[in-house]
Amino acid sequence: MNAQLQYIETNKDRFLSELLELLRIPSVSADNKYKTDVMQTAKFVQQKLLEAGADRVELCETGGNPIVYGEKILNPALPTVLVYGHYDVQPPDPLDLWHSPPFEPVVKDGKIFARGACDDKGQMYMHLKAFEMMMQTQTLPCNVKFMIEGEEEVGSENLEPFIKENTDKLACDVILVSDTSMIANDVPSITTGLRGLAYMEVEVTGPNRDLHSGTFGGAVANPINILCNMIASLHDQNGHITIPGFYDDVAELSPEERAAMNQRPFDLQEYKNYLQINDIHGEAGYTTIERVSIRPTLDVNGIWGGYTGQGAKTVLPSKAYAKISMRLVPNQNPAKIARLFAKHFESIAPTSVMVKVTELHGGEPAVTPTDSIGYKAAAKAMQATFGKMPIPTREGGSIPIVALFEKALKAKTVLLGFGLDTDAIHSPNEHYGLFNYYKGIETIPYFYKEFTEMWKQA
Ligand code: BES
Ligand code: MN
Ligand code: MN
Repeated sequence: MNAQLQYIETNKDRFLSELLELLRIPSVSADNKYKTDVMQTAKFVQQKLLEAGADRVELCETGGNPIVYGEKILNPALPTVLVYGHYDVQPPDPLDLWHSPPFEPVVKDGKIFARGACDDKGQMYMHLKAFEMMMQTQTLPCNVKFMIEGEEEVGSENLEPFIKENTDKLACDVILVSDTSMIANDVPSITTGLRGLAYMEVEVTGPNRDLHSGTFGGAVANPINILCNMIASLHDQNGHITIPGFYDDVAELSPEERAAMNQRPFDLQEYKNYLQINDIHGEAGYTTIERVSIRPTLDVNGIWGGYTGQGAKTVLPSKAYAKISMRLVPNQNPAKIARLFAKHFESIAPTSVMVKVTELHGGEPAVTPTDSIGYKAAAKAMQATFGKMPIPTREGGSIPIVALFEKALKAKTVLLGFGLDTDAIHSPNEHYGLFNYYKGIETIPYFYKEFTEMWKQA
């Protein structure tokens, strides 16, 4: 056994208990009541980076949650890997659907169950432990910088200015991120694309107050009825989005590219069984793999208004609301799409109501190349530890900051994720496999080694 594997073996239990400790702190960025927990989580990460052997470890103040920074510069003549991850998590609700409390991690059936287990505490922490292992076994082959933020789940608004103001501090040759998934534990893959996002909230107002639905119903617009009609009209019979200009900038893939991406293992029956659905649903002319990666979408995330308490209340509500998000693909621009949405939504409102459209946040789509040395090093690393070459895959989720990395830091990003689509991220009972956690820790040092070698040759 090599020294690195030996080190994992010896420290396995501590690697796990430290992650469980991290998972116990409820760092929900969306909800202000967790502010002190978020702060405590940042300090935990800072402390662990320091213990692992990083220098200049600090909490960088932002307009919001702090960014944890740390580095190990061996020699300026060597390449530098910048590790990005996030310590914040999604809200845990609905709480009653969890089999164990979201912030009291349990290990069951070889998996760690807790909010953030996979997204992204578990995946981020692999990098700290891989770094510790390289330091302790004297096998760190290059420089490394860590930038761990606390606002990814709310749009990374403060990270953007931080990066722009600190391009020298963050200067690097590659950005390494583990915040995505792979196809299966025996089918390694590397993510080569993420979708963007335009997130909107709409408010439809009918009469100036809630009314008796018998006295006024039938003669005055019901904003909930109207909102439902408006939303329904946003897709046509073929599942295409009806907003004028929505598809104008969508990059179409060649038939060859589409054929290649559909080669990846995918079992539709298994997919349906897992979700307990009788049938799938989506845009005509595209496969499920394509629908969740290279095609843009529009979804209602939440809709509310009127009476939703116990029993029946006969009411014609004054207002109706919905949160609507659109996943975007290259070369759609979130700001432009938000404008098109607002214009269209206002235009389809009947004169009997008033509508207000607000943009909540956005993020650009990203594609990462497969011919960069970063990608090649990651592929070799996975081959070394999984015994198989990984498959490049484009994913449907978003990491808004990735698009900025290339522009601001002039370096390519490698999306080396170890999660699975079945890990229930953002859902009740989120989990992360012990296999995945340890495999990640084992694989990451190979990336450093391969990247450094290829960089020296290039
Ligand atoms: N780690 C996810 C993104 C992700 C998930 C990428 C699965 C690929 C596969 C990230 O934490 C996330 O949830 N991002 C948000 C975007 C944000 C602006 C709220 C998302 O995709 O909804
Ligand atoms: Mn994430
Ligand atoms: Mn997330």
